[in-house]
Amino acid sequence: MESEMVKFKESAIAEIQDAKNPIELDGVRVKYLGRAGLISKLSESMRDVPKGERPRIGKLLNEVRLTLTSAFEDRAEAFAAQHDLAAIEDIDETLPSTPLRLGAIHPLTQLQDRAIQVFRRLGFALAAGPDIETEWNCFDALNTPPNHPARNETDTFYLPDGRLLRTHTSTVQIRTMLATPPPVRVIAPGAAYRRDEMDATHLSQFNQLEGLYIDKHVTISDLKGTLEYFVRELLGSQVETRMRPHFFPFTEPSLELDIRLPGVNSGRWMELLGCGIVDPTVLEKVNEGRGDQAYDPGKWTGYAFGMGLDRLAMALFGLPDIRLLIENDQRFLAQFV
Ligand code: PHE
Repeated sequence: MESEMVKFKESAIAEIQDAKNPIELDGVRVKYLGRAGLISKLSESMRDVPKGERPRIGKLLNEVRLTLTSAFEDRAEAFAAQHDLAAIEDIDETLPSTPLRLGAIHPLTQLQDRAIQVFRRLGFALAAGPDIETEWNCFDALNTPPNHPARNETDTFYLPDGRLLRTHTSTVQIRTMLATPPPVRVIAPGAAYRRDEMDATHLSQFNQLEGLYIDKHVTISDLKGTLEYFVRELLGSQVETRMRPHFFPFTEPSLELDIRLPGVNSGRWMELLGCGIVDPTVLEKVNEGRGDQAYDPGKWTGYAFGMGLDRLAMALFGLPDIRLLIENDQRFLAQFV
C-alpha cells in the first residue's frame, strides 16, 4: 500500500501539471480528491492494513492528501493569473489617461464660509431653522401685520396647510429666542424664498445670512462697529460703507448698509444688508411664545441684521447673471477651484 501511495502521488502531480485548462484541472481534482475519488478509496482500504501499521500509513495518506490539495490550489492560481494577464494584454498603457476632474467649492459656499468665519471670530454661534415655517415665526412674531404686502399670496409661497417657505432667515431670530434665554449672539445662514419672476438678478430661492445679538445696553454703535468690522474683514480695507434709514417691522430704528469697493459693481454703491435695533414688540411676542418674561424689553436690547449673499457673490465674482449660481454648469464652476 505504501508504494502504491507514492506512485499514486507521482501520477497525480503529473496529471495536475499536464492539465491544460481549469476544466481539465477540475476533472483531475475530482478523480483524486472527489468524494468517490482515489483518495477516498485508499482511505477505505485502510481497513485491510494491519493494526500496528495503521497510524503510520494513515499519516502518510494524510500527507498525500495535503500535498495534492496544495498542488491543485497552486495550479488553479496559476490559471487565474494567466487569465488576468490575458485580459490586460490588449491594453495600451501608453495611451493618455482620462483626466480626473476635481470638484471645487461653489462660489456662494466660499463666500458664506468666509462670512461665517469672520462672525465666529467675533463670538457669534451658528443657528439654523427649517425652510418650511409657520406664519407666526415668519411674520407675526416679527411684528409684521396681517395686511403687510410680504404676507400676500403673490409674494410668498404658501403650503396647502397654511405653512410657508420662509421669506427671510429672520425666522431663526425667533426660533433662537424661543429656545434659549438671553444673552444671544448668533448668525444663521440659509435659504429664503419669494415669488419673484426669475431673471438675471432674481431667483425665487436665494441665500441670506442673518445675525442676532441680544444683551444689555446694545446700541446702534455696537451694530455699526460690528458690521463695519465684518465688511472690512470680508472685503478688505478699501471698502467704504454707508448707512441709510429704512423700515422693517421688526427693527426700530431700521437701517440699510451699503458698500462700495473699487472695481466691483462699476464702483457704484451696492445695498448689502438690512439691520436695526430689535423692536421691543418682537421681544414681547417671543415672551408670549415662551410663556415667560425672559426677554423683558425693559432689561434686554439687541440688534439684528440680514444680508443677501447671492447679489454680493455676483458683484465680487463679476457675474452677469444670478442664474449662473444655480445651473451647476461645469464650465462656470471649474473657474472657482
Ligand atoms: N429680513 C430682512 C430682509 O429679508 C433683513 C433684516 C434682517 C432686516 C434683520 C433687519 C434685521 O430683507
